[in-house]
Amino acid sequence: SARRPLIAANWKMNGLKADGTALAGAVAARAKAVGTALAGDILICPPATLIDAVAEALADSPVALGGQDCSAEPSGAFTGDIAAAMLRDLGCSTVIVGHSERRAGHHETDAAVRAKATAALAEGLTAIVCVGETATERDEGRALDVVGGQVLGSVPDGATAATLVVAYEPVWAIGTGRVPTLDDIAAMHRHIRELLAGKVVGGVDVRILYGGSVKPSNAREILALDDVDGALVGGASLKADEFWAIVEAAP
Ligand code: G3H
Repeated sequence: SARRPLIAANWKMNGLKADGTALAGAVAARAKAVGTALAGDILICPPATLIDAVAEALADSPVALGGQDCSAEPSGAFTGDIAAAMLRDLGCSTVIVGHSERRAGHHETDAAVRAKATAALAEGLTAIVCVGETATERDEGRALDVVGGQVLGSVPDGATAATLVVAYEPVWAIGTGRVPTLDDIAAMHRHIRELLAGKVVGGVDVRILYGGSVKPSNAREILALDDVDGALVGGASLKADEFWAIVEAAP
């Protein structure tokens, strides 16, 4: 397919200025050294406080910059929130929306996630829409249905393969060292692709990332699956060596 791999780092709420610029600088240096021979796209999503400093560290490198969340509103009285235009203004190309930590910790519904993704698209940002089932939902045999519902409820109608990425992150695999079987990952990604094909213009070309305890040791076999177009990496993205090993594992 025409889908270029995307390896995305989600630093979550980690890093002060010195750590963040050093880490971003280390990744940028490696990416620059490889240059046009890079097999895929690389994205770093630092905490909002570090976006400006990380933008500087990534300057003149092929590494893209993204936010971890944005408001559904364009501006106004929303204390603590960050508008898509503000991310764009700092040089972000992309924003993660609907991460399970926000769905669970900030009560974000599918409708709220869709509104955020819509706001991102309106500003010309690519939206990485996250979906994923809990352990209970998987044990009850409902994983495909739950995730399918999240995809249909969270992806905006106007999305295209150029402006949308979907990240499948089973909640029970995030930060736990547990990952689904390769068969289960493949089945879920196939299911998501079928749904996107029916919902989005050019839907079969939407990149679908896997996230949840991706490490250098398991990245190659996961990234080799047909419908896996990259990874959304949390813990292992906080170490330049580990993150780079995952970048290099992309086919
Ligand atoms: O967004 C990233 C995911 O939540 C994965 O986190 O790699 O630490 O399991 P993790």
